[in-house]
Amino acid sequence: MRRVYLDHAATTPVSPGALGAMTPYFSGVFGNASSVHRYGQEARAALDGSRSRIARLLGVPAGELVFTSGGTESDNHALRGVAYESRKRGRDHIITSVAEHHAVLDTCDLLESDGFRVTRLPVDGSGMVSAGDVRKALTPRTALVTLMHANNEVGTLNPTGEIAGIAREAGIPFHSDAVQSFCKIPLDAGGGEPDLLSISAHKCYGPKGIGALRVRRGMTLEKFLHGGGQERGMRAGTENVPLVVGFAEAAESLQREMDGEAARQRALRSQMIGRLAGGLPGVIVNGHPTLTLPGILNISFDSRVISIDGEALLFNLDLAGIAASSGSACTSGSVAPSHVLTARGRDLPTASASLRFSFGTSTTAEDLEYVADELIKIVTRIGKPA
Ligand SMILES: Cc1ncc(COP(=O)(O)O)c(C=O)c1O
Repeated sequence: MRRVYLDHAATTPVSPGALGAMTPYFSGVFGNASSVHRYGQEARAALDGSRSRIARLLGVPAGELVFTSGGTESDNHALRGVAYESRKRGRDHIITSVAEHHAVLDTCDLLESDGFRVTRLPVDGSGMVSAGDVRKALTPRTALVTLMHANNEVGTLNPTGEIAGIAREAGIPFHSDAVQSFCKIPLDAGGGEPDLLSISAHKCYGPKGIGALRVRRGMTLEKFLHGGGQERGMRAGTENVPLVVGFAEAAESLQREMDGEAARQRALRSQMIGRLAGGLPGVIVNGHPTLTLPGILNISFDSRVISIDGEALLFNLDLAGIAASSGSACTSGSVAPSHVLTARGRDLPTASASLRFSFGTSTTAEDLEYVADELIKIVTRIGKPA
């Protein structure tokens, strides 16, 4: 049976280049990067070299990158680190949005239960935050603005360049979760750049369990992990050199192909939309028509036209060899409809009848033809006209 993986927003395979680059660092060059002997120095050189390579992709000094265990830790570190540090100076207010990843939303809940005030901004019909709303929400006690660059469920891009400019003007740190957009599209959308930025290797053909947080020079964050003095004292624990090397290799090669790949995926996305809208009743494309990641296509079936169960759709697609998702990877497995889709006004049955297809570098037009044909068959079989 043909197999098609369209869940690259959940995770990507490690690229052969990244795998090859990492391999020597598991057992050949295995030293602890903090050791003074030659073994340690070899590991240190690989660590520092990889840090510089990733920093160059972000256009920031290497000294501003802290390696973490992934996007979740980077988000937790940014929010908790800034929040607890700022509270010492009387700032205890955080601005975020209802459509953030749970790594941000749940950390905000935690901070709220610890006495912080959290403003959760609404999103428009496409899932986008308004920069004007950010400006209005700022108070003299605001400690942090945290808003994602690209939404992991619908792909919509926030105006983070403009928001960075607003936050800078007000002297308030701005954190952005760029886990989905790093190396897929340019991060600098004009206006300014975030002071803190979360990225993760496994979304860009690197290994799982490694990510980074950019922390602008001069900012002080409360320590996240306590122990050794690694990562300039910000994140204790022996550095995972093989994963860091794989991260740098994967990110660099993806960024090299970024423009061409983005254009290719944009074209695939349009073709897929055309086929689905032409062949199926009640298809709604979620997200912004143009300000979107090229590789995410999120659709719902309008409950006023057709009644269909999202879990059954996924199950039947899987039987046809097709991997997709009903929401973000971290919430898949739960039957609750996506918080992003309900936040932007979808009714529950429609939000529940949603699918996220996310393309990767290996996705072809033939793959998508197959997926569209199979989906049309499945919907015809299990959908009930409303
Ligand atoms: C936007 C976003 N932020 C954070 C994460 C968490 O990243 P990680 O899996 O590296 O912890 C994800 C993963 O799905 C994501 O899509």
